Amino acid sequence: MDVSTSIGPQFQESTKYHRGRPVPQVPGWAAPPDTYKVYEDYLERVALPEPQSGGAPLWEAIEARRSQRRFSGEPLTLAEISQLLWATQGLTGEVGGIELRASASAGALYPNETYVVAQAVDGVTAGVYHYDIRAHELGMLAEGDYSEDLARACLEQTWMQRAGAVFVWGSVVARCAWKYQNRAYRYLYLDAGHLGAQLQLAAHSLGLGSCNIAAFFDNEVAKLVGIDCLTEVPVYVAAVGRA
Ligand SMILES: Cc1cc2nc3c(=O)[nH]c(=O)nc-3n(C[C@H](O)[C@H](O)[C@H](O)COP(=O)(O)O)c2cc1C
Repeated sequence: MDVSTSIGPQFQESTKYHRGRPVPQVPGWAAPPDTYKVYEDYLERVALPEPQSGGAPLWEAIEARRSQRRFSGEPLTLAEISQLLWATQGLTGEVGGIELRASASAGALYPNETYVVAQAVDGVTAGVYHYDIRAHELGMLAEGDYSEDLARACLEQTWMQRAGAVFVWGSVVARCAWKYQNRAYRYLYLDAGHLGAQLQLAAHSLGLGSCNIAAFFDNEVAKLVGIDCLTEVPVYVAAVGRA
């Protein structure tokens, strides 16, 4: 297939900024969107331990990080999950009343929500969870062993079933499009790339293996974490486990 005449270049072209042409602006009176998704009906809340420092130094993690797809199936600890969530989306600062997170985000709009599919995590019931950033807690959305369904949804990547947890990032499009309109679709993925990179470095630093995943059936992954695949779209997945 010749992509040069297809939707990709059309998207790239129609979302370019050009010198001399106005850049879309948010009206001065427009209130920014809420950057946190709130669920009123978690089935259960799981408090996460305080994030800790320590582990392998950054330079070593950068040099030694590799995508890992062989996992022992041995459970992760809740402290490790806590650390990985903090390293990607944890609150780490504030400026002018805007809460800032561990990973950079265009316009500090943070469109990406984190879902954790707990497959083998010590003391945590298997299921699908949402990361409640402000509370630094996991909220259960669905109980059960979804490891097989998720691996199937990721184009039958069956090795994922032995990961302790799989992170799924879903982008709330309007949060970013409020400011950047169609160009937002570039930023959803750029933001997600930061999350994936920080997750891999953090996982390595903790002595864990991880692999980022973009090969998935979008509708199936969306259904599994309970998002509609239109206003909130799955953009990136990452499996983490013990070697
Ligand atoms: C955007 C993106 C998508 C990826 N998707 C998959 C995937 O679906 N399955 C997989 O096994 N690896 C996936 N990978 C991992 C790459 O195959 C891996 O990063 C590459 O082979 C380089 O190896 P390294 O990460 O060990 O340096 C993905 C990596 C990126 C950055």
